[in-house]
Amino acid sequence: MTKKEQFNQRLSRHYDELKWLYCELYESMDAFGQLCGIMESYFTRRKESLVGLDEERLKNPDWYKGSELLGMMMYTGAFGKTLKGVRQKLDYIEECGVNCLHLMPLLQMPERDNDGGYAVSDYTKVDPRLGTMADLSRLADACHKRGICLCLDFVMNHTSMEHEWARRARAGEKEYQDRYFFFDNFDIPAEYEKTCPQVFPTTAPGNFTWLPDIQKYVMTTFYPYQWDLNYRNPAVFNEMAGFLLNLANHGVDILRIDAVPYIWKELGTNCRNLPRVHTIVRMIRMICEIVCPGVLLLGEVVMAPDKVVPYFGTLEKPECHMLYNVTTMATLWHTAAVKDASLLKRQTQIVAALPKEYVFLNYIRCHDDIGWGLEYGWLKEHDMQENPHKKFLNDYFTGRYPYSLARGELYNDDPASGDARLCGTAASLCGIEGALTCGSKEDLGKAISLDLLLHGYMLSLSGIPMIYSGDEVARLNDYSYHEDPAKAADSRYVHRGPFLWEEAALRHTPGTIQQKIFEGLQKMEQLRRELSVFTYGVPLWMSETWEPAVLCLIRQSEKERLVSLFNFSDQPKTAWIKEEGEFEDLLTGEILAGCDVPLPAYGMRWMLRQA
Ligand code: GLC
Repeated sequence: MTKKEQFNQRLSRHYDELKWLYCELYESMDAFGQLCGIMESYFTRRKESLVGLDEERLKNPDWYKGSELLGMMMYTGAFGKTLKGVRQKLDYIEECGVNCLHLMPLLQMPERDNDGGYAVSDYTKVDPRLGTMADLSRLADACHKRGICLCLDFVMNHTSMEHEWARRARAGEKEYQDRYFFFDNFDIPAEYEKTCPQVFPTTAPGNFTWLPDIQKYVMTTFYPYQWDLNYRNPAVFNEMAGFLLNLANHGVDILRIDAVPYIWKELGTNCRNLPRVHTIVRMIRMICEIVCPGVLLLGEVVMAPDKVVPYFGTLEKPECHMLYNVTTMATLWHTAAVKDASLLKRQTQIVAALPKEYVFLNYIRCHDDIGWGLEYGWLKEHDMQENPHKKFLNDYFTGRYPYSLARGELYNDDPASGDARLCGTAASLCGIEGALTCGSKEDLGKAISLDLLLHGYMLSLSGIPMIYSGDEVARLNDYSYHEDPAKAADSRYVHRGPFLWEEAALRHTPGTIQQKIFEGLQKMEQLRRELSVFTYGVPLWMSETWEPAVLCLIRQSEKERLVSLFNFSDQPKTAWIKEEGEFEDLLTGEILAGCDVPLPAYGMRWMLRQA
């Protein structure tokens, strides 16, 4: 089959649906024709090696759903200085057991005002401080040779105000102004402000920015220098689709579609998760299936669970391949603070009951803050009110709460709504930093156990675990951003410090914190890869422990039964379970009866027996 025939075959599979959705939205067959041209041109240029990967993955469409993938997310600059530097450090990535590398945004961005890369000024170039597009391809090739897949952000809601489109818009070109949301006065913006909440209420209040030089307002949901793109304009959709395919053709395997719930705006709504967002995501999914079917979409949907799940689409009309398990992440930290696992149990049950085709990315920390998106209806029934509870969590994790050794910083502390979010590395939030500066040896031991417990919980779930670079060697907070005027207002930089290679060098030195965390994680990750109970589709359910702080997860395959126990209390507890037979705790090597199992403070067990 010629390439042309192959393209037509792929296109014809989706042609009717794509055309219908597209024309309903844009009412233009010309624009649709252009999109088809863009797809064909990227398909024609796609490298043989990538086409080969596409074919392989098409034959095994569940390739990313099992326990084989382990992710790590990192800043190129912080970890390896440049893309070439990251490539030279792939041995370390492999040593971490990682085979899915998520690099934070690295396309060209302004010197300042770049939101850590989430303000792109050129989608076709790597930021020169980090390398070139050729370096990106080289890194992707090197990763693929080692069986590592590469994930990259596609920042699609907005461009930097230094992007060429924004500059031309500012210079008065109507065609480019139409790619954004421009207003001559505040009448319409004022209407939007009535129903559209703020993302960064203290660091970037409001959803619009006044441009005095051209006497216009522009929509800026995030920072004033991030101008929202107008997806009502087919030129925006088509060109952005081209930029996305260009990344795929440079070897990116997973595209993280950033801030996707925000891409469609409508007066009188909250401008989040609107039906048109799903139309656009569905179109992107089809475009990828036509041009680069091996590429996956990871939706960044940091929303309540009922808003997250629709981004999977339906089984017949899928949208994203993967989504973040954000509520479980926030609930996990809540559990560590309240030392009661009831809500986590409930949350885990909800996720476990979803169709197995829905793949979640599990994480405990990422580059962003922790927002307290908990199930407040349920908490209310248990006498916890939203604002006081958020305040308790924030006090607890910033170490203001009595005896708390957690060391986090608040983020976007909004006195108006009483809302504040939280920043900090996993190790600092678990109390390792506090224990080192003002705690006992016992405190330090507990903080390390808590860190392993939270990671262990993440590794016990179905889906793809994603480690935040540095957490594997207990990186502490980095307060140096306070001295940098470009960063000082954004406390997320407290957990975005450079990777400390000299500390990582201690990861095999017995007795060091780095070794305890690194080797502790390594052991769990290896078991996760090997045990049949972690393979795709093996059911997971909860069992009663009669101890509020202790949670019990059970997985059973044809061969094995794994009983996982997690003690979220800082005191030893007993899991009053009644399991038949003898188990081996794979983490300690102990042989245990399956009844009334003791757990140390923040202890965890993976108990296995033959099924
Ligand atoms: C996403 C990113 C965040 C960024 C925002 C705006 O939420 O994770 O870091 O600030 O999008 O692009």
